Amino acid sequence: MHKRQTIIFRFFLLFLVIGMATGYFLFLYHQNNQDASSLDQNANQLSDNSTPSPPSLNSKFYAAKRLANLYSAEFYVDTQPVDLSLGNSIVVSKLHSLPADYEPDNLVYVNDSQRLTADAAAAYEQLIAASEYNFIVTSGYRSYTTQSNLYNNYLATNGFDWAETWSARPGYSEHQTGLAMDIVEVGTNFDTFGDTEACQWLKDNAHRFGFIHRYPESKTSVTGYSYESWHYRYLGVELATAVYDSGLTYDEYFALYLVK
Ligand code: DAL
Ligand code: ZN
Repeated sequence: MHKRQTIIFRFFLLFLVIGMATGYFLFLYHQNNQDASSLDQNANQLSDNSTPSPPSLNSKFYAAKRLANLYSAEFYVDTQPVDLSLGNSIVVSKLHSLPADYEPDNLVYVNDSQRLTADAAAAYEQLIAASEYNFIVTSGYRSYTTQSNLYNNYLATNGFDWAETWSARPGYSEHQTGLAMDIVEVGTNFDTFGDTEACQWLKDNAHRFGFIHRYPESKTSVTGYSYESWHYRYLGVELATAVYDSGLTYDEYFALYLVK
């Protein structure tokens, strides 16, 4: 009798363990489906041109694959033309090039010498009105020719490696879009701006006005550029906030959510 009770008890334990394991796997399966479908929703919200939704269980796989492709890509090899139909959310990088003759048609002066697109200029005006710091745009829109001269000067003066990590080659600079600005506090320069309170304020607040810090510290392997405390990119408030909240570079964010 005692032996029979033990066998029944063991069977009971076995069924209990099998039941719990099945429950756990069903829970994981459900979670996976939910994560994948929220990734889809997020992507669809952020871009009308997002990836045509694959079955939701596969979304994570495709997103991870796009990210892996980004991480393994070689700069300036197999580059793609910038998809200009994306407007303010275009990505320009060492993997995405602009036509030499591309010039935005709505440039507006933000000071005596620098221009941004109308949207970016309006956002910049709001930013400086809201800030207690005295910012100045030292470089906004740059034509292909200006970028070419800049890059070649760096090359001649500081050598290939230096030029490559601090400057885009002509046709690969965000400055050619009029959506990027180099911004510092008056009285500082590229060497000193990074240590200022103004720089920290900009990092923490620029997204509220539609700008993101484009080349953060420790992201050189992704962006291809050294840390530039001064280079900001206009995306519009909604997208800039989403990118800021994600903690990703725009290259990563774009690969994950906005690639067609
Ligand atoms: N300094 C940035 C990377 C540019 O040249 O566009
Ligand atoms: Zn710049």
